[in-house]
Formats: sequence, structure tokens, C-alpha cells
Amino acid sequence: MDSSVKKDVAHYNDTVVRQFAIMAGVWGVVGMLVGVIIAAQLTWPELNLGIPWLTYGRLRPLHTNAVIFAFGGCALFASSYYVVQRTCQTRLFAGPLASFTFWGWQLVILAAAISLPLGYTTSKEYAELEWPIDILITLVWVAYAVVFFGTIGVRKVKHIYVANWFYGAFIIAVALLHVVNSAEVPAGWMKSYSAYAGVQDAMVQWWYGHNAVGFFLTAGFLGMMYYFIPKQAGRPVYSYRLSIVHFWALIFTYMWAGPHHLHYTALPDWTQSLGMVFSLILLAPSWGGMINGIMTLSGAWHKLRDDPILRFLIVSLSFYGMSTFEGPMMSIKTVNALSHYTDWTIGHVHSGALGWVGLISIGTLYYLVPRLFGKEKMYSVKAIEVHFWMSTIGIVLYIASMWIAGVMQGLMWRAINPDGTLTYTFVESVKATFPFYVIRLMGGLLYLGGMLLMLWNVWKTASSGRSVKVAIPAVNPAHA
Ligand code: HEM
Ligand code: HEM
Repeated sequence: MDSSVKKDVAHYNDTVVRQFAIMAGVWGVVGMLVGVIIAAQLTWPELNLGIPWLTYGRLRPLHTNAVIFAFGGCALFASSYYVVQRTCQTRLFAGPLASFTFWGWQLVILAAAISLPLGYTTSKEYAELEWPIDILITLVWVAYAVVFFGTIGVRKVKHIYVANWFYGAFIIAVALLHVVNSAEVPAGWMKSYSAYAGVQDAMVQWWYGHNAVGFFLTAGFLGMMYYFIPKQAGRPVYSYRLSIVHFWALIFTYMWAGPHHLHYTALPDWTQSLGMVFSLILLAPSWGGMINGIMTLSGAWHKLRDDPILRFLIVSLSFYGMSTFEGPMMSIKTVNALSHYTDWTIGHVHSGALGWVGLISIGTLYYLVPRLFGKEKMYSVKAIEVHFWMSTIGIVLYIASMWIAGVMQGLMWRAINPDGTLTYTFVESVKATFPFYVIRLMGGLLYLGGMLLMLWNVWKTASSGRSVKVAIPAVNPAHA
């Protein structure tokens, strides 16, 4: 490394990384607390206490927005800013703009946390926020793109490491999805109508919805995978060639799979079949990526035994593999006829959300926090160990109970007597689901407890012990 690069890397902009990393932990706890509250409300509906802004219909979008955009979003901002500086060997481009993305994004979250419980919503899932907030999101996102791609533009190394390809695709795709799906006609300060109507509106919405999963909840986190797993394992990426094939195959295929959310609707049948076929194809790149991540550990499997951070990162990939196997199966029309409307979908969502997105973010935060606060390691490694088991058991309780409940509901709803009448009333299926809702709530409480333990550990790491000089990481984890 020449001396000019050395001077530059000593001055990475880690303030914004630190801010986003802390807020990822804080919003994670808030979003999951709301998740636990709505899980309790589904079990005991009177828990809304008769207060309109505590009703399930208002808290549910608050939960999804908080966990996806506040928790997941802050983890993505933090890790992408950290990774892009290290892999490009340069400081963040346009520092004040990076700071604007932090404060702007927190303002978006605050606006969501106020407007959703008050009942303001566009009613489009994962895009519920009203038009003034949509405009703020667009401004923050454009600034994010300028900072990220600007940093790549001024990089000191020729090569663009694959993690940046995934983060870059996530930033571009989310911009496209947000602008197209949020096209709306304002009818007052907090009221708007979608620019689309009828089945077109549904199609645009689920093109957005599925790609929110593909790009917000997947591509960015794959960026994390490609940097933090090689780093924590101390091994190069298993196959760099596979990572490139993985990238192009994944981003091409995801764009077409949206109609699997609209099986048996007014959407033309051929469109539904097209969505199903692309969903089945999606299994291949998804598993290619998972294998690439897991095999990075080849020759270093023993590290899993005593490194709980690595365990978070690797187990997240097992859940990624599981949910990306389950998703294509659920997209088969005949399977979807059973799973749609049931808690099976909720089980699938959370095996991806708690298992993949949650665990990889937690592992990444444990990697980042000591480095960001100039400490040798986290305050308590034992607490990370306990956190790992709390979240893993929590996920298993959550998803296993929802799978059983979902299949049971689907079978009960379609059961018919010899004379053609329904065997069960709807309310009988609700009653039968009760014990599973209690188990899901216990799983959620465990997962939330683990997050609180992490916050305590972060607090202790930041506030106690002597700071150490942290070594500047190597340019490229593939060559670490
Ligand atoms: C303590 C942890 C969590 C608990 C207890 C929890 C609980 C819940 C509950 C009760 C629902 C509503 C289910 C229904 O309508 O039947 C839900 C929906 C949802 N949650 Fe969570 N959640 C948690 C964490 C997360 C995380 C970390 C994410 C994402 C990163 C997430 C993403 C979602 C999404 C996307 C939905 C909507 C699913 C759909 O519409 O099909 N959740 N959650
Ligand atoms: C190959 C990958 C995947 C495919 C083909 C796929 C497919 C599906 C299918 C068929 C549904 C049910 C749609 C319905 O009946 O309404 C669904 C729902 C969902 N999936 Fe996946 N899935 C995949 C991976 C993931 C991952 C990794 C996550 C999370 C990180 C995820 C999050 C969701 C969410 C949030 C929903 C619920 C959407 C809603 O109705 O609100 N999926 N997915």
C-alpha cells in the first residue's frame, strides 16, 4: 500500500457507521417489541385496550416498517458505509451528505412511528407511508446513492469487490421500486390515491413487494455476507466466480417473480404462471449464494465451535437456504392454494426475517461494534453465546408453530362433508390456532430478550474498558 493510501484509510468516516449501527440495535428492539405486542393481540384481542392507535391494524404496519426499514435499513446503511470504505480504501465521498442520510432516515422513521398509529396509510403493504414521507425517502435515497457510488468512483483500488455489487444493486433497485410503486396523486397533506387502478395497481404493488424482499431484505444482506463472513472466518470467499454468477442470476430473476403473490386473482393466468416459473428458477441462484457463503468456512469449520459471531453469520445462511427453498415451493399454484391466507406465509416470512435478515445483521453488529468503539472485543462473549441460543430457539418456536398452524388452517378451510357443506366454521379454525399463537409469542419474547441482551452488551462495550488501536483491515476479504 503506498503512503497516500495509508494516510487516507487512517481517516475513514466511521461516525456515520457508528450512528447507524447503534440505531439498528435500538430500532431492532422497538420493532420487535411491537411484533411481540401484535403477536399477543392475535392471541388475546382485547389487548388493544380499546384505544384506536393501539389496534392491530395500525400496529401491524408499524411493526413491518420498523423491522424492515428502521432495523434492517440502519444495519444496511451502517455495513455498506463500513464496507465500501474498506474495500475501496478511501473515505466516504461527500461526508456531510452521509450525515444527511443518517438524520434524514431517522426523520423518516419518526414520521412513520407517528403517522401509522394515527391511521395515515396508503394501504399498500410495505409502502404505507403517505406522500410527504415518500418524498423525504426519495431525497435520502438519492443522497445515499451519491455517497455510495461516489465512494466507489474515487476508490484507490481498481477492483470493485463483490459485496459492493450487491449493495449497489440494492440501492438502485430500491430507488426504482419506491418511485414507481409510490406514484400517487395527493388529495390533502396526508392523503393520496395511487396512480394505478385495479389489477394494474395490484401488479405494481406486488412487483414492488416481492422485490422489496429481493433487494431490501436480500441483496443488501448478501453484501454483508460477502464481506463479514470471510472477515470473521479469516478465509477468502469460497468462489469468486460463483459470486459473480450468483449476482447476475439473482438480480435478473427476482424482478419477474412478483405475481406469485397474486395467484388465483384477477391477474391474467399466464402472468401468474410466469411468476411461478421464475420463482422456481430463483431457487438456483439463492442456493448458489448460500453455498458460496457456507463453503467459505471450508477448512475452518472448527471455528464455529467457539466463535458465536461466526455462528450467527453461518446459521443465518441456513435460514436463508430454508426460506428460499420454501418460497419457490409456496409459489407453485397448487401449494399456494393451501398456504395463501394462512399462518404458513407468516412462518415463511419470519424464517427469512428472523433467521436470515435478523441473524446476519446481529452477527455483523457484533463484528462492527468493538471496531467502531476502538475495543478489542465485545464486553461479554458469553452474552453473545446466550444471545445466539435465545434467538435460535426463539426462531424455531416461531416458525414451527406457524407452519403447523398454517397447514392446519388450510386443511380445515378446505375440508368438506360428503354433502358438500364445510366441515369447520372459520371460528373453529381460529380456536384451534390459539395454542400455536401462544407458542409464537414465547418465541418472539425469546428473540426480543436476545436483542435486549445485545443492547446491554453494546452499551458495556462502548462505555467500559480501555480503547485499543484497531488494525486497519485488509483491502479485500477475498484476499485477506
Ligand atoms: C420478536 C420478533 C418478532 C415478532 C414477535 C414478530 C411478530 C409478527 C406478527 C405477530 C406479525 C403479524 C402476523 C399476522 O398478520 O398474522 C408479523 C408480521 C410481519 N413481520 Fe414480524 N415479528 C418479529 C420480527 C420480525 C422481523 C425481524 C422482521 C423483518 C426483518 C419481521 C417482518 C415481518 C413482516 C414482513 C410481516 C408481514 C408478513 C405478511 O404480511 O405476510 N418481523 N410479525
Ligand atoms: C427464492 C426465494 C423466495 C421465493 C420464491 C419466495 C416466495 C414467496 C411466496 C410464494 C410467498 C407467498 C405469497 C402469498 O401466498 O401471498 C411469499 C411470501 C413472503 N415472503 Fe417469500 N420467497 C422467497 C424468499 C423470501 C425471503 C428470503 C424472505 C425474507 C427475507 C421472504 C419474505 C416474504 C414475505 C415478507 C412474504 C409475505 C408477503 C405478504 O403477503 O405480505 N421471502 N414468498
